[in-house]
Amino acid sequence: MKKIYKYLKIKLTKKKYFIILTKNFVYKVPFTFSSYLSLCNEIDSYRLAKKSNFWENSFLNTSFYGFISCSPRGDDKMDRHKLDVVELLDNLLLKMKSKPRRSALELIDIGLLSDLVDVSKVKYFKNSLSKIFLPKSVAHGDLHIGNMLYFDKKIIIIDWETYRENSSFLFDYVHYYVREECLVKNESWTNIVFDHTFINSLTNDIVNKINISIPNLIFAYSINRMILEINQFGNVGKLKPKKVKKYLNLIDNLLI
Ligand SMILES: Nc1ncnc2c1ncn2[C@@H]1O[C@H](COP(=O)(O)OP(=O)(O)OP(=O)(O)O)[C@@H](O)[C@H]1O
Ligand SMILES: [Mg+2]
Repeated sequence: MKKIYKYLKIKLTKKKYFIILTKNFVYKVPFTFSSYLSLCNEIDSYRLAKKSNFWENSFLNTSFYGFISCSPRGDDKMDRHKLDVVELLDNLLLKMKSKPRRSALELIDIGLLSDLVDVSKVKYFKNSLSKIFLPKSVAHGDLHIGNMLYFDKKIIIIDWETYRENSSFLFDYVHYYVREECLVKNESWTNIVFDHTFINSLTNDIVNKINISIPNLIFAYSINRMILEINQFGNVGKLKPKKVKKYLNLIDNLLI
C-alpha cells in the first residue's frame, strides 16, 4: 500500500481537475463541465505558446485525449533550482530589448474596470496607461514557482491557462518576484507592489538595458494582475465582498 501511495498521488486543484501523478506520467482529469472547458482552453493556450517561439524549450510534451491531458512527470521541488529559474527569466527578459513598444492600454484589456469604479477613475487609468510604453510580447499570465517543474535538466513551465498573445513578458517577470516576496513576507501582492524596498530590488543590469521605469511597470502590472484575477472568477459580480474591498483598496492606492 505504501508503495502504491509513493507512486500514485491524486491532487484536487482549485479549478476542479483531478491531477493523477503516477511514477512517470501526470494526468489531468476534469470532473465538471466548466473544468473540462478550462482544460480545453489550457491545451489551446499551450499549443499557441509553443508556436510563439518565445519560451525556448520550456515545455513538457503534453497530449490531449478528448478530455484528459497527459504529460511526463517532472520534479516539483523547485527550491534547489531557483538559480536556473533566475537564469531563464533573465534570458527571456533580454529578448524584450528588441520588442516593439506598445502603450500599456493596448496590452491590457481594461473593460472590466468600469464594473468596479466610476467613469472618472476609469478615465484616469486609461490616460495613465496610455502614457506607459512597454515592449510587447506573449505572456504566461501566472508565472510563479508553483507553475514550474524541473525535467530533462531544465526548467519547464506549466499551467498555460492564462497565456496571452497581446501582452508583455515584463508582467510575468514582475509577477514571479512579487509572488516570491508574498511567500517570504506572507502578505498579499496588493501590499507588496507598494513596498519601496521590493520595487528597488527589481532594478538590475538587464532591467536597465531595457530602459523601463519600474514604478510605471508596477502600476501597469497591478492593473493587469487585478483584471486577470477577476477574469478567473468570471466577472466582478461573482467576487466575494472581501475581494471587492481588496481591489478597491488597491485602486485607491494606485490613484495616489
Ligand atoms: N507534469 C507534472 N509533473 C509533476 N507535477 C505536476 C505536473 N503537472 C502538474 N503537477 C503538479 O500539480 C500542480 C497543479 O498543476 P497545474 O498548475 O498544471 O494545475 P492547476 O489546475 O492550474 O492548479 P493550480 O490552480 O493549483 O495552479 C502543480 O503545481 C504541480 O505540483
Ligand atoms: Mg498551477
